[in-house]
Amino acid sequence: MLKEADSPYRTIRVAAQPTGFGAEITGLDLTRPLSKDALAEVKAAWAAHAVVAFPDQPLTLDQLEAFTQEVGPFGEDPFIKPMPGHPNVLELRREPDEKATNFGAGWHSDWSFQAAPPAATLLHSEVVPPVGGDTLFCDCARAYEALSPVMQAMLAPLQAVHSAGRAYGTKGVFARETEARTMQIIVSEEADRQLTHPLVRTHPVTGRKALFVSPVYTVGVEDLTPPEAKAILGFLFQHLTQDEFIYRHRWREQMLLMWDNRCTMHFAEGGYDGHLRLMHRTTVAGDTPV
Ligand SMILES: [Fe+2]
Repeated sequence: MLKEADSPYRTIRVAAQPTGFGAEITGLDLTRPLSKDALAEVKAAWAAHAVVAFPDQPLTLDQLEAFTQEVGPFGEDPFIKPMPGHPNVLELRREPDEKATNFGAGWHSDWSFQAAPPAATLLHSEVVPPVGGDTLFCDCARAYEALSPVMQAMLAPLQAVHSAGRAYGTKGVFARETEARTMQIIVSEEADRQLTHPLVRTHPVTGRKALFVSPVYTVGVEDLTPPEAKAILGFLFQHLTQDEFIYRHRWREQMLLMWDNRCTMHFAEGGYDGHLRLMHRTTVAGDTPV
């Protein structure tokens, strides 16, 4: 159930989930540039709630791009061919007869294998299937805060190893798939590269700490043996994905969703075989995690 947030928003309306994680923002028109005050309030609500939905926003691609750039400069999207004429927009399209696994069907934070992963992802719904297709979000800040001080102290110095290899690498899921897929995935040796980020990162706006690992892109922990890393990551993945940390987003058509990759993971549910699903996606550049 949604409730009006107590926070004093003056130009927009913000209805937050009871947990505070996830909110719906109304009272604004994203087809036109926002006033300075409205944009500041949108950013404040986004910082407070991490996943914000804007219902009833029939955006063209140009308008989606324009709003994205009001939030910040575009991020870089590797491994997927962008839309013709719109190099910063990905089309997430799954045809009714498509058999390939739906895109995003594993817990992850977008492009966490990049040196400076995107701060935000924006996803706009064009065609929403009548069943399935929810997007689940995990509150990685609250999950961190729920750990014991002893566990928090143990995780504090650790560097997690990230790689796109399991998904986009030469031996990854997409390289091995046999079913036809509408989206054009570019499998690459580049994807097999690894880099490290702090396992616990601090949000540059809110100052909150959050677990920054995911089953799709985190492949190890620096200085731990593989069995040690597997045990720690296995525990964290199980801990993160408990119901109490999850917000289930149900889509309606012409809805824009914006989430914060610095303190969340997400999972795209399937369950809509036989129906078209069509979304457009942009990202906003982020900082090097610290
Ligand atoms: Fe994603």
